[in-house]
Amino acid sequence: MDIESPKVVVCGAGGFIGGHLVKDLLAQGVRVVRAVDVKPLKDWHQVAAGVENLSLDLKQKRHCLTATRGVDQVYQLAADMGGMGFIEKNKALCMLNVMTNTNLLLAACETGVERFFYASSACVYNADRQTHANVIALKEQDAYPAMPEDGYGWEKLFSERMCRHFEEDFGLICRVARYHNVYGPNGTWRGGREKAPAAICRKVIEARMSGLHEINIWGDGHQTRSFTFIDDCIYGTQRIMNSNINEPINLGSSELVSINQLVDIAEEIAGIRLRRTYDLTAPRGVNGRNSDNTMIMDRLGWEPSILLRDGMEKTYRWIEEQITKVEDYTDTEVSAVYAGTAI
Ligand code: NAD
Ligand code: GDD
Repeated sequence: MDIESPKVVVCGAGGFIGGHLVKDLLAQGVRVVRAVDVKPLKDWHQVAAGVENLSLDLKQKRHCLTATRGVDQVYQLAADMGGMGFIEKNKALCMLNVMTNTNLLLAACETGVERFFYASSACVYNADRQTHANVIALKEQDAYPAMPEDGYGWEKLFSERMCRHFEEDFGLICRVARYHNVYGPNGTWRGGREKAPAAICRKVIEARMSGLHEINIWGDGHQTRSFTFIDDCIYGTQRIMNSNINEPINLGSSELVSINQLVDIAEEIAGIRLRRTYDLTAPRGVNGRNSDNTMIMDRLGWEPSILLRDGMEKTYRWIEEQITKVEDYTDTEVSAVYAGTAI
């Protein structure tokens, strides 16, 4: 990367995807001038050296102005979010992300930002297209007519449209990716916001540690998803940001599995078989969701390809390592622990 490479800010850099993105951009020589997150630095999943790391609440416009000053590109990954356990019970908090997205877009225009990436979600898709486990993979046009995930999905869909109109009316180049359940090392693995891949790894490890050899699964285990490994997400995010794709596009694996199959994989990695119980009252979300990658193949000649088995191995080993670092670890702890690994 030469001296003329764009100056970048990553918002939500203390989180899972943001932390990986900062690390990867720096490795390529991109000028990441700033990394921003509302959390205190000690709680960031990863902290990069040589970057201005700021704890700022981006719901406030003045903080968005500080974050975007002097940069050419904004990667907007800041959001109050989590897996089904979080988004089903915190719809108002999820919708309040609209303040972050609104103020960041406004600030970006005021400070002369050229390009803005927005991390949207597969939760924007119409629920009627996700009623069966053997779901037909979701194409970009399936977001309309709109009937997204309540709370979180509505906000994402609204903010996608805001990006579109900021580009049309104010000339801010906006790029929008719809992430499909992203997982990997340095993600949230306990505390209530964790998604299925990390939760299942953790539960399998706990079952092994406790010697009880039993696992509780949310739902009946037949619901399906595709899971995207973090390396594919980070690569695809940058490809989309630097592309001419000015409409929301899927960024997700198309390897569809049931939650029972996800548990099979984790058991295989652990080398054990567990007795399964099912909680039919737990947060479950849609019955089936998969990513149709026709558009990303057409536009980028690329799609996420890292196999779930391979990504789960890395995720499982990382969570195992985290658990051994926590003194007196018990599965009843609910306080979030962040890795805080220096990069
Ligand atoms: P994450 O929770 O690990 O990271 C989000 C970060 O945003 C957190 O560190 C949080 O503290 C920060 N944040 C929240 N509100 C903020 C505010 N007001 N000001 C500054 N920072 C704030 O989540 P992630 O998995 O890294 O997700 C990143 C983005 O991708 C989010 O927009 C999320 O909605 C989207 N997304 C993620 C997934 C996934 O499976 N991980 C799927 C679809 C979409
Ligand atoms: N979280 C979690 N924990 N889910 C479990 C568990 C568990 O212990 N056991 C089974 N599941 C089931 C859930 O009931 C759900 O049916 C499925 O696994 C997937 O759950 P999550 O990974 O929590 O969320 P999701 O795939 O429904 O939605 C996620 O991905 C979206 C993008 O595709 C969320 O993270 C959204 O915020 C995100 O936008």
